[in-house]
Amino acid sequence: MKRYYLFLTLIPLSIFAMTLPAAEKTIDYQRAQWDPIHFQPAIASATNKQCLSCHQEVLDRKLQTKSPAGVEAASTLAWYQTLTSYKGPQQTFHQRHLTSDLATQVMDMKCTTCHQGSNPREEAIIPPDQNQDQFTLRKSVNPETCLMCHGEFPDYKRMGLTSHWNSSRDIFQNNCLLCHVGVRTTRHQVNFLKAEAIETAGKKDSDVCFGCHGGRQWYRISYPYPRHAWDGMAKATPDWAKDRPTESHPRFKLQTKKVSKK
Ligand code: HEC
Ligand code: HEC
Ligand code: HEC
Ligand code: HEC
Ligand code: HEC
Repeated sequence: MKRYYLFLTLIPLSIFAMTLPAAEKTIDYQRAQWDPIHFQPAIASATNKQCLSCHQEVLDRKLQTKSPAGVEAASTLAWYQTLTSYKGPQQTFHQRHLTSDLATQVMDMKCTTCHQGSNPREEAIIPPDQNQDQFTLRKSVNPETCLMCHGEFPDYKRMGLTSHWNSSRDIFQNNCLLCHVGVRTTRHQVNFLKAEAIETAGKKDSDVCFGCHGGRQWYRISYPYPRHAWDGMAKATPDWAKDRPTESHPRFKLQTKKVSKK
């Protein structure tokens, strides 16, 4: 019986084994696919190194130079590739978030910033408390995570701008910091961003700020950002902000002082 099973798995195993480091070679494909590290609670504390011990291909994979119909990839540009902060030839999605120049400069993303567990059968997130609100069927990543950096530019009226940044940027010298040097200054204190590097880069070029706040917009809505208290903040909370959290999502909080037991 065991031999029969081995025979059946021999072909896929041999392909899979080539990509596995020595220590993992004893695990068969099914066991690896259903490895507890893919599920809560183990995934919450998984490191990039652990995930990459089986999935190095997500960073190493090369793009095709031509589409199946023969169009040269290098001859087509997406609009976001025209932004000043876009550098280099086309790369994969995972490379752009984990290893590109910009990604390593301003972000510090982990696999688990986006992947919180997925069920190979349903391709759905399995929330720790089975909360139906979090059930994103057939998506292995909750799109709300993406919305934080790929949403619409926030409501321009609340910012006191004359119109959307697309048309008012020149009036404000294409400089977010004209206002944001004194407004909503407690920002980016989360474990997947490099807060100081963002300020340094944003000072030189506000397209870096805009890049995550409207410049790479995949969604028609804006993310409802938490509203952290800042020095000089008015005491009264405006109506639009009454339902807003005042702190970042617990999952993203910086663990500086406390040592987490998880
Ligand atoms: C022991 C090896 C191993 C480890 C460690 C591992 N995985 Fe996997 N993972 C697999 C295998 C095997 C599959 C099935 C791949 C397939 O069918 O293409 C899989 C599937 C997945 C899938 C679904 C792919 C799809 O096409 O549906 C995702 C997403 C994923 N893993 C993410 C992760 C993340 C994130 C981590 C770290 C928390 C991780 N994996 C750790 C072996 C592993
Ligand atoms: C910016 C968010 C993000 C980060 C960071 C991220 N992923 Fe993914 N990953 C995704 C999305 C989105 C998909 C596609 C999901 C789908 O098809 O539903 C995906 C797909 C995958 C897949 C299956 C498809 C494929 O490309 O093979 C694997 C495996 C995977 N990720 C592993 C990883 C590992 C390992 C890391 C850390 C080194 C990582 N991911 C980091 C968002 C992310
Ligand atoms: C913390 C902010 C952040 C989050 C969260 C984030 N992205 Fe991005 N994304 C970026 C930045 C910055 C770039 C540009 C990187 C570069 O140009 O090197 C980018 C680039 C992209 C690109 C273009 C990639 C390419 O091939 O050029 C796509 C598509 C994308 N993101 C989709 C997503 C999706 C889907 C998610 C959620 C799973 C997500 N992003 C989450 C910041 C983020
Ligand atoms: C004319 C001044 C001004 C300029 C210029 C400006 N902002 Fe704002 N911004 C504000 C004010 C005021 C608020 C709301 C403060 C509050 O919470 O009461 C705000 C809020 C925000 C928020 C939070 C939105 C939310 O829904 O919680 C983000 C993100 C933001 N700005 C990013 C930017 C970026 C990026 C730029 C440049 C591309 C920019 N701002 C340019 C004044 C400005
Ligand atoms: C790499 C992507 C990225 C870049 C670059 C970036 N932001 Fe953000 N910004 C975010 C994310 C993600 C959040 C939400 C963080 C959280 O949940 O606390 C945020 C939050 C904010 C907020 C809300 C602050 C609050 O009250 O918590 C403001 C205002 C803001 N950003 C302005 C800016 C300005 C100004 C720049 C340029 C100096 C900038 N951002 C550059 C991703 C980015």
